[in-house]
Amino acid sequence: MQFVMEELDPAERYKLLVNTITPRPIAWVVTRDAQGQNNAAPYSFFNAMGGTPPLLAIGMAADNQREGGTDKDSLRAIRETGEFAVALVDEAHAEAMNLTACAAPPGVDELKLAGLECRPAARIAAPLIADAPVQFECRLWKLVETGPHSAIVIGEVLVTHIIDSVVGREDGKLRIDNPALKLIGRTFGAGGYVRNSGHLQIDRLRWPLEE
Ligand SMILES: Cc1cc2nc3c(=O)[nH]c(=O)nc-3n(C[C@H](O)[C@H](O)[C@H](O)COP(=O)(O)O)c2cc1C
Repeated sequence: MQFVMEELDPAERYKLLVNTITPRPIAWVVTRDAQGQNNAAPYSFFNAMGGTPPLLAIGMAADNQREGGTDKDSLRAIRETGEFAVALVDEAHAEAMNLTACAAPPGVDELKLAGLECRPAARIAAPLIADAPVQFECRLWKLVETGPHSAIVIGEVLVTHIIDSVVGREDGKLRIDNPALKLIGRTFGAGGYVRNSGHLQIDRLRWPLEE
C-alpha cells in the first residue's frame, strides 16, 4: 500500500510517521523564558545531528489546543532566549516526564508540578533536572520554521552532564555504560514506550569485504 502524504488528513499523516519511525529517543526540554518562568516538556521528534559542531534537533509542532494555535511554551521560550536544556529520560523519570507533557497553561512550572528538584546549569539560564542521568545545555544554532507555530529547533550542545557512575576511562578512552542509564524511548501506539534493551551487535565492515 502506498500513501501520497498530501492526500491524507493531518492525523493520518502523523500516524504513518509515529507508528513506523520507532523507537525514538525523548528530549525532555527544559527552558526559562524571558520572564524567568521555567518550563519542561518531552519531545520525541528528536535526535543527535552531528559531532562537530555537536548538534541535536527537535521537532516542535503548534499547540492547537490553544485558541487559533500558538507556539508551545518550549518553542516560545527558545525563541525568546536562544537557550534550552535537554534531559534524556530514564525509567525512573518516566512518570514525571509524562506529567510534564500535560497541556498546562503558560505560567505553570511543570518541573514543580512533577515534583522535580532543579540545579543551576553551567552555561545557560534554564535549570537542569537535579537527578536526570544525562543532560545537554544547548544554545540555539538554527530555527527552521516548518509551519505556523511549528519549527525544527537545532541546538548546539555546549555542556554535557552524565552521572558519574556510568562514565569511566579505560586505556585513556572514554567509556559510557549505556545499559546502566536505563533510558526509555517512544514507540508505536498511544502511551507506548520501549526500554533500551534487546541489544543487537553488528560490527562495521571494512572494504574490501572478506570472503
Ligand atoms: C513522549 C512524548 C513525546 C512527545 N513528542 C513531541 C514532539 O516530538 N513534538 C511535539 O510538538 N510534541 C510532542 N509531545 C507533546 C508535548 O510534550 C506537549 O504538547 C506539551 O504539552 C508541550 O509542552 P510546552 O507547551 O510546555 O512546550 C510529546 C509528548 C510525549 C508524552
